[in-house]
This record gives sequence, structure tokens and C-alpha cells, in this order.
Amino acid sequence: MTVLRWNEWGEAVVRMMVEAKPGENLLILTDTGLNTEIGEACLAAGINAKANTQLMVIPQLSSRDYTRDLPSVAGALEGADVIVILGPAQNASIEAAMIESREKGGRVTQCEPLNNEDWIIEGVLDVDYELMSEIASRICELWSKTEICQLISPLGTDISFRLKGRPALRGDGRAISPGDADFFPGATPSIAPVEETINGTVVVDGTLDAPLGRVSEPVTLQLAKGVITSIEGGADADALRTRLGSTGDPKALAVCHWNVGISPRARMGNKMAEDEMVMGAITFGFGNQDPIFQGTVGTAKMHSDVVLTSGTITLDGVVMCKNNKLNPDLGLGGL
Ligand SMILES: [Fe+2]
Repeated sequence: MTVLRWNEWGEAVVRMMVEAKPGENLLILTDTGLNTEIGEACLAAGINAKANTQLMVIPQLSSRDYTRDLPSVAGALEGADVIVILGPAQNASIEAAMIESREKGGRVTQCEPLNNEDWIIEGVLDVDYELMSEIASRICELWSKTEICQLISPLGTDISFRLKGRPALRGDGRAISPGDADFFPGATPSIAPVEETINGTVVVDGTLDAPLGRVSEPVTLQLAKGVITSIEGGADADALRTRLGSTGDPKALAVCHWNVGISPRARMGNKMAEDEMVMGAITFGFGNQDPIFQGTVGTAKMHSDVVLTSGTITLDGVVMCKNNKLNPDLGLGGL
């Protein structure tokens, strides 16, 4: 039955995720690996919203295409006010053009529907998206005042860091202000903790970036001043160590963002993009850092994330999230 929902979904993307206005240049970018109805639904919704809408379909890219020059795609992106990317679009000229567009006030949001269409639909249409966005904003407010955030788990995670002084990003997937860039469906509020205050142990029991995927046994990271100093565990730990060392860039080991999933609809184990959104799941990102975080890591040759399925998060001693439930006493209930 999911096919029948793409029209409703396209309307939600255009009107809620990017709030496309009449006359704005809206570009829908998709690839040949995806169900064509997804892009066409967004095209129709954009036309309905009276935006100047184009649908661009590019060949499905492999990892070998990352450095392939795509000047006509880049030109379209640079000329757009609003960009919706359907698919991974992992290509250097696409990434550069998106930055160019954002610097001119463009806004972009992206989702990855391949082999995960149910989540893409349900994560947008079957949650109280307005409430989820409000709770994400409330979490950002709390983080902006937090001197010490501590994270512990029964598996041995025990780490703390300061959040105050860094911008907290709502991460609800919506791109509604100039320069916004996000992934949808959300939500996962995120922040770059103050690097030199990040010290402790992180035990990863969820997911590693592709191609590594779900861990078969916990991977234990030791961190000092925001940098991984050791990676221990089984084969997954070995694979992660190899991957993070593969570029020779020491910044690949530096924490560049931290986030918490708050979607009541996301389920663990399908895809990284969904795993990160699971209510109470905790993600640490390492390496290349978007300037929007205002951290000190900056550009790096690699970006990778690790996801913990759960943990107890305290903000200056007050529980924010425990057993994958947000604390209603902090105004975070209802999802
Ligand atoms: Fe990340």
C-alpha cells in the first residue's frame, strides 16, 4: 500500500520539510536507482505549491563516481533556492554545488529511500511532526545551558562533555531557513560538544557507517580531549580502526558532532539514516565537520558515525533520556 502514499508524502515534503513558496526555484534531484514515483510526487507537489519546480534524474552513482565531474547537475543545484535530494548523491561536485547554493541562501534537505521506503513514508506522515520539532527545539534549549552532559550505559559507556557555548541544531529534517541543510525524516537534535572536554568511554552496540553496518559485538572507544585513543572489541572494532585510519588524516578520529534520536517511528537495524533517528539512540560523528556546528575540527578527509542503541543522558545531573524515553518532567513528553 505504500505506493499509494507517495502523493501525500510529496505534498508533506514540499509544504512541511522545505516550505516551498510560490516562485521559488525548487529542484528535486533523484537517481535511476529509485522508484520514479517518489521524485514525480515531489515534482507534482512543487507545481501545486506554485514553486518553479524541476525534477532532475541522474544515473545511480557508485562510490567510484565520487570524483566524477557533473557540471550540469552542479549548475542546477547552484541555481536553486530550495533543493530536495532523494538518494545518496555522494559526489564531490554535488556537495560543492550544495555548499555554493547554501552560501547564497539556498536550503537543502535529503532522504535515502532505497530499500527503506516504509520508513521514509512513515517517518514523515505517521508521526506528530510538529510536536517532534517542538521537542527537538526544547532539547536544543536545554543543551545550550548544559555545563556537563554525561552519558552512561550498562555496557560500559561513561563519558562526559560540555555543550554550553555551542549551537544546538534541531535536526528535524526541515530546511526552512536560508542556508539550512538537513536529512529527513528526523528528528535528531545535534551539537558539537566542546572538544577538549570530551573524555571517557563509548561502547558502540548499534551501527557503524557503511560498509561496516550493524555490530555483531560491542566496540569500545576510549576518548581523550575529543579524540579516539583506542578502539577495542572483535572484528567490528578491527574494521572500524582500519577504516578510520585509512586516509591517514588524524582528524578522522576527532568527535565532530553528537546527537540523540527522537523519532517514535524509527526502528533499529534497517539503515544508518533510520538508526540515528530511533528514540533514545545516541550518535557520535567523527571527522569532517560542517561549519554550522562552530566546532574546532573543521574539514577532514573522512566523516563517519557510530550509533549506540541506548544510554542514560544527564544534563547537569538531571536525566534527559533513559531507556529510550525522554523525560516528560523537562517538557519532552508526548511523542
Ligand atoms: Fe555524522
